[in-house]
Amino acid sequence: MRKKSISSLSNSKNNIQLKRTLGAFDLVMLGVGAIIGTGIFILPGTVAALHAGPAIVYSFIIAAIVCSFAAMCYSEFASSVPVTGSAYTYSYIVFGEVVAWIVAWALVLEYGLAAASVATGWSAYFVSLLEGFQIFIPVALTGPYNPDEGTFINLPAMIIVLALALLLTFGLQESNRLNKIMVFIKVSVILLFLIVGVFYVTPDNWQPFMPFGWDGVFTGAALVFFAFLGFDAVSSAAEEVKNPQRNMPIGIIGSLLVCTALYVAVSLVLTGMVSYKHLNVSDPVSFAMELVNQNWIAGFISLGAIAGMITVILVLLYGGTRLLFALGRDQLLPGFMSHVSKNRNTPVISTWIFSILIAICAGLLPLSQLAEMANMGTLLAFTIVSIGVIFLRKDKSAPQSGFRVPLFPVIPIVSFILCIFLITKLSVDTLLASGVWFFIGLVIYFSYGRSRSHMNKR
Ligand code: ALA
Repeated sequence: MRKKSISSLSNSKNNIQLKRTLGAFDLVMLGVGAIIGTGIFILPGTVAALHAGPAIVYSFIIAAIVCSFAAMCYSEFASSVPVTGSAYTYSYIVFGEVVAWIVAWALVLEYGLAAASVATGWSAYFVSLLEGFQIFIPVALTGPYNPDEGTFINLPAMIIVLALALLLTFGLQESNRLNKIMVFIKVSVILLFLIVGVFYVTPDNWQPFMPFGWDGVFTGAALVFFAFLGFDAVSSAAEEVKNPQRNMPIGIIGSLLVCTALYVAVSLVLTGMVSYKHLNVSDPVSFAMELVNQNWIAGFISLGAIAGMITVILVLLYGGTRLLFALGRDQLLPGFMSHVSKNRNTPVISTWIFSILIAICAGLLPLSQLAEMANMGTLLAFTIVSIGVIFLRKDKSAPQSGFRVPLFPVIPIVSFILCIFLITKLSVDTLLASGVWFFIGLVIYFSYGRSRSHMNKR
């Protein structure tokens, strides 16, 4: 239960003061850039087909509410604790080392498996785009290991992960401008889909609206939650925001609102164009356009999806490798994880270890399983951060000037309860697999990290 103190983190030489340059609009762009990826191009189809029907619209709204509450809690931490490391560092301060380790273990699951799932989504759109140009990759190389369906390995998904890992080892300066261009492309193809698709909507397809009842809607919410992952990127920018008390909530709520509006609109148009029963395909948005013979539009959508997903994979890989780096630096994992290459100034070893493992998952496992496990990791981190804010307020050494969660302590408590509720809606297989993952994590902590940790030496 040993803890780091806010003052020791503030005094550490790693603490570089960042310039406050970002306004509310920049934050919204940052959020939309990090959030919109596979979720909007795949989940409105698959989750509607299997769980929620056209009422997937409600699933998106529920997931957005849960995320906005958790996001406020993240923001309070981000503006009180002046170092990076996200939920891992926050938990080290308020709960102590073992909880911090569990959060880090959950975040590795989130970043890693979310990156793998976006890579498999990317692969589906990439393959369908190539087919548009009459280039065919053998089916066996385009899907997860599933001999019954004739697929053995998802080669494009593996290649994109490894290619982006290579890019990361060269050192990637976060570029506001590139992000804005990507957001523009993503949002344009989504608007294109909406404008063209709306002419093909047949309201009969919305009947029945809620074929699987509220239970299906809540299960859908636990799954489409994935579409909102990435918004923690907004809260991690708290140190670089002008007037954070005003701009942080606008940035967070603003990017969630933009994404929710787009998700709801796409779900309505998609389930209105094609009966939800036919939407369990790997690229539903372009599939719907092909069905109404708008092949050019389908091609543009695939291009936009491919471009948009790349930035999401990159941000997730970046987050995962920096987390392993932080764990190596704190000696909870072997020190070589925090080795920084002299030439390139990036943690090359942790980047490759993480990315190769992710590439293997992306090559062999199906998207739905990967995404559910990623959600589990995220929801667990959210529950701990939500409750952590209550403890943070009691810590008198925390700066009192940053962003503060409104309606305290109602929002943190409701956020905690909602996250637990969504966890209970995940499948039993996912809960069991997560149990095994966290058990392995605890074995590693008690047999390795606990005695070698930096804090132990101190
Ligand atoms: N929110 C991200 C996506 O939907 C992970 O791709």
